[in-house]
Amino acid sequence: MTTPASESSPGTPTVRQAVKADLLAIFRIEKASFPQPWPFAAFERYVGEPGFLVAEFGRGIAGYVVADSVPNHGKPLGHIKDIAVHPDQRGQGVGTLLLERALGVLAAQGVASVKLEVRESNDTARSLYETFGFDHARTIPRYYDNGEDALVMLADIDGNN
Ligand SMILES: CC(C)(COP(=O)(O)OP(=O)(O)OC[C@H]1O[C@@H](n2cnc3c(N)ncnc32)[C@H](O)[C@@H]1OP(=O)(O)O)[C@@H](O)C(=O)NCCC(=O)NCCS
Repeated sequence: MTTPASESSPGTPTVRQAVKADLLAIFRIEKASFPQPWPFAAFERYVGEPGFLVAEFGRGIAGYVVADSVPNHGKPLGHIKDIAVHPDQRGQGVGTLLLERALGVLAAQGVASVKLEVRESNDTARSLYETFGFDHARTIPRYYDNGEDALVMLADIDGNN
């Protein structure tokens, strides 16, 4: 299993549903991206979920997103559960593409409203989410192991994604 090389990655990555063979590369990116990474088994559970997507350039997985929806009084509620891009592949639009495609999957499932949690200090992710219309809805104090607060952000995707 290879992770993407750090040289330039021309072109637009392909986005497709994640399969089992992607999980090791995904897990490596997860560990390189988060102080509290998801365990490997957590990703295994989402294989087959339409909102579990990977972006790949020719040589390997550049990033992934895990999104799902749960029933909520008739209108399912979407959740962006995890998103990360390989540290060497950031800043090239991969995260934007993954989020756009995941929101498209959720919209196709009839989702009108999407939520996510983000570290208060994660300015990069927060600005990415704001671009897609996510607004800070509430704060969960000391959500993370290091005592940091989580911001819950919400977006309406009815008709505009
Ligand atoms: C958040 C993350 C997924 C974004 O992926 P990415 O492929 O780098 O994102 P993009 O290249 O599509 O850029 C999206 C926006 O992020 C911001 N951004 C990207 N790189 C940035 C950087 N180095 N510094 C500050 N902002 C940055 C910009 O607002 C950018 O919008 P712009 O292209 O209009 O300037 C990626 O930084 C990552 O994996 N971070 C670690 C994991 C993480 O924090 N995930 C989110 C958990 S809630």
